[in-house]
Amino acid sequence: MKLCMIGTGYVGLVSGVCFADLGNEVICVDNNIKKVNLLKKGKIPIYEPGLSELVVKNFKNKRLHFSSDLKKSVKESDIIFICVGTPTKKGGSSADLSQIYNVSKEISSSINKFKIVITKSTVPVTTGDEIEKILSKKNSKKKFSVVSNPEFLREGEAIRDFIYPDRVVIGTNDKKAGRILKNLYSPLISKGTSYLQTSRRAAELIKYASNAFLATKITFINEIANLCEKTDINVEDISIGMGLDKRIGGRFLRAGPAYGGSCFPKDTKAIISTADKFKTNLSVIKSVIKSNANRSKILLDRVYQILNKKIRKKKISFLGVTFKANTDDMRDSSSLKMIPWLSKKGAIINYFDPTGYKKEFSKLKNVSHKSTINSAIEGSDLVIIHTEWNDFKSINFKNLVKGKKFIIFDMRNIYSSTKIKDQGFKYFSVGK
Ligand code: UDX
Repeated sequence: MKLCMIGTGYVGLVSGVCFADLGNEVICVDNNIKKVNLLKKGKIPIYEPGLSELVVKNFKNKRLHFSSDLKKSVKESDIIFICVGTPTKKGGSSADLSQIYNVSKEISSSINKFKIVITKSTVPVTTGDEIEKILSKKNSKKKFSVVSNPEFLREGEAIRDFIYPDRVVIGTNDKKAGRILKNLYSPLISKGTSYLQTSRRAAELIKYASNAFLATKITFINEIANLCEKTDINVEDISIGMGLDKRIGGRFLRAGPAYGGSCFPKDTKAIISTADKFKTNLSVIKSVIKSNANRSKILLDRVYQILNKKIRKKKISFLGVTFKANTDDMRDSSSLKMIPWLSKKGAIINYFDPTGYKKEFSKLKNVSHKSTINSAIEGSDLVIIHTEWNDFKSINFKNLVKGKKFIIFDMRNIYSSTKIKDQGFKYFSVGK
């Protein structure tokens, strides 16, 4: 079986290279010729641990190919994965499906033998039905099968998540397609991965419901953290105590800044929009979105209190600005709300991130990128640990500062408060 991944963004590239590494022949297609040429040279446009090595290895052994010719690549393949973006519509909250439908039209004129056409991109319920309509305008229904196979890859952990997923979800009622895809995923299933075959619409909704639920879990613990701060309780004890209940589970109960990234903010909005279309009120998810939108304000208010209500001319250092560790992704990172607000209030901000300079802050007054932790925190009044990079987990603050001691606000609860306080620093964390 020959595979074709359309879109070499996060999902398409990671899935394509992992399928190639499992022994399949894979063509990764993108309409950006520059990107395709860079990929052929082993240059990876995104930061993802382990990805570059796998791309080079599989490109060299000729299992992985790159092309900008969609029609030719589709003709040569048996299984087509649509992996293009489904961002939030400009000025709206529903998913913009224009790339999905454009690609479907192109596929439609290249069906020369039986093809399985799969949405791996996150697409609202009934998108598969629409793709089927587009394909059937030019082709008999016997020539193709439209399937939903959502991805559950976390940035920074994407390769591990692909190889050791909690589950593979295949949405199809077509026996032939189901059999072929079960076989494609058999190397993962034989290692114990759960394999779930559902209706296409159910698979589409499983993705949104999962992300919305995880976003709810985080928002829930963030609100509990607010209560802990007022009642002298450590939120980590609550997360452990709750997590030991197998019905709840301990993961995604780390309190911290607002959740961000390319998926949770976009998908929570899109599921509400789908529900509106079907006249259903998802009130829980609506309040999650609202609460998360207010999260940065709550943390900024704490910064204001920590600095005795004086932000003007205060030197504030940010350690980490990406939405989480092990990614260079700034999309919906809470730092995008915090840094502009503090800059507007007159703070002087230095930031260091292991993935370097961020253009998002280039126009802000008194905001500078520093290339080391030391230079970022030198002379600071307040150091904010914003992202949980390993680089920040064992800093010896005492050795780093000469003279004035700064205050530390650890928004990811990386450090033990007693250890830092013993070194003579004022230390604040979240939910404690
Ligand atoms: C997510 C989903 O996990 C993945 O399955 C999906 O396909 C894509 O979206 P990702 O966006 O890479 O992956 O990040 P994830 O690790 O899930 O974290 C999302 C946000 O939640 C981050 O801002 C992170 O800092 C925050 N988070 C996560 C918490 O604040 N607390 C937690 O306990 C876990």
